[in-house]
Amino acid sequence: MSKKLYIKTYGCQMNVYDSNRMEDVLRPLGYATSDADGNTSANTPENADLVILNTCHIREKAAEKVYSDIGRIRILKERRQAEGKEMILVVAGCVAQAEGAEIMRRAPAVDIVLGPQTYHRLPELLEKARAERARGRAPRVMDTEFPAEPKFDALPAETRSRGPAAFLTIQEGCDKFCTFCVVPYTRGAEFSRRVEEIEAEARRLVAGGAAEITLLGQNVNAYHGLDESGKTVGLGRLIRRVAAIEGLQRIRYTTSHPLDVDQELADVHADVAECMPYVHLPVQSGSDNILRAMNRRHGIDDYCRAVDMLRRARADLALSSDFIVGFPGESDTDFEATMRLVREVGFSQAYSFKYSPRPGTPAAAMENQVPEEAKAERLAELQAELNRQQLAFNEASVGRQMPVLFERAGREAGQISGRSPYMQAVHVIATAADAADSTIRGENKARGNGNPDGVAPAYTGAYTANITGVANFTGVAVAEIISAGPNSLQGRLL
Ligand code: 5AD
Ligand code: SF4
Repeated sequence: MSKKLYIKTYGCQMNVYDSNRMEDVLRPLGYATSDADGNTSANTPENADLVILNTCHIREKAAEKVYSDIGRIRILKERRQAEGKEMILVVAGCVAQAEGAEIMRRAPAVDIVLGPQTYHRLPELLEKARAERARGRAPRVMDTEFPAEPKFDALPAETRSRGPAAFLTIQEGCDKFCTFCVVPYTRGAEFSRRVEEIEAEARRLVAGGAAEITLLGQNVNAYHGLDESGKTVGLGRLIRRVAAIEGLQRIRYTTSHPLDVDQELADVHADVAECMPYVHLPVQSGSDNILRAMNRRHGIDDYCRAVDMLRRARADLALSSDFIVGFPGESDTDFEATMRLVREVGFSQAYSFKYSPRPGTPAAAMENQVPEEAKAERLAELQAELNRQQLAFNEASVGRQMPVLFERAGREAGQISGRSPYMQAVHVIATAADAADSTIRGENKARGNGNPDGVAPAYTGAYTANITGVANFTGVAVAEIISAGPNSLQGRLL
């Protein structure tokens, strides 16, 4: 009988990928996140034999949120123990990496602490924890090393389908050391996986039903992996290799650094149809002074050059970004420069944050911290402009026809939801016949294969296998956009 595994994932897509991979590591030991019918909501922290909190350290009070979750799970754990059942509690991810010893000290209910680079060792760590428990001691197992053996070599192949839109980590860590950021400390030095290994994983994801793959890395376009001939290959070249996989329809990548945008990557946007016209390119601030204090290693000119390069390759490219307001020393003039940049560049969506000090990072020790009210005011002004741009971008989609990758049933009856090429959420109400019909045409348009008869032979099997009723429909279909809101589009299938 399988043992119940419950994983709570905080934070970014890299953590989603890691949680999936932890599941792969644990499956041979009999742990599963779903019941026999594949129903993942059957597992709850209440009935789990093993609970993993896969934590994120990027947001303010991240650690506090983890401690309060640990507190809630401790009660469930004690309840299970009173019934003679086991529960092992694992804290993984970036908070574990940054504060492992502190977690061990403050939270006796935690059995195992492990960082993002050691989760392939979960089986040994579980073994150790069990041995401790068998000796009547509370397990206190911790592994937050940056081991020499690459984690990826030790991970098993994926054990279950990741659905129509899958993530694939190709690069980890960061050598840039922006002064506000914890990533270089929690994820460690930059590391790129080998091309063949990535290709093999991508092939398995496609065989498991993925129509889209998002290549992930903290600094994804700093990718420099080895190919089979021992040559170092950049992200542009890698995307071409992955795009050649039969059946893969879409490729995305995130998160990029402006300095690592090169012509090779831009060219991919011009001539690889599978590469989606959307790039997340954080700029953080529009002021060169602040960028220098942030140690971003690029100025505004460099950022605009990177944007130009990408937009010259693909005129309709949608751009997203991250912003921090109220970084130490940010004056009204610096902030105005950010507003100017936003108006000049134009973003289809963006994430913006008030600066908040992370212990151990250089900016946390800077003296000229900005008062809270100024941060709040600036954030409100920036977000008003970004929201305005996002709505304008969405409204400009009305009347257009675009291939949408439908990933799941929507909230309303008969509704299916997915993403446009530009990463907008799209909802349509559809019948099964609608979906089947327009999938075939969507495939042809998405690939641009110019087949006038409208039937792509390689795809016929894939769509019939996918359609077992509208609620289960996944795949690419062309939708006409009929209305737009700030966060999503409504469409109808063509
Ligand atoms: N304060 C505020 N925002 C931060 N980010 C990272 N560190 C901090 C911090 N200390 C934001 C950056 C980054 C995004 C993932 O989170 O904008 O790009
Ligand atoms: Fe953090 Fe800067 Fe590296 Fe991005 S580039 S992960 S913000 S240190």
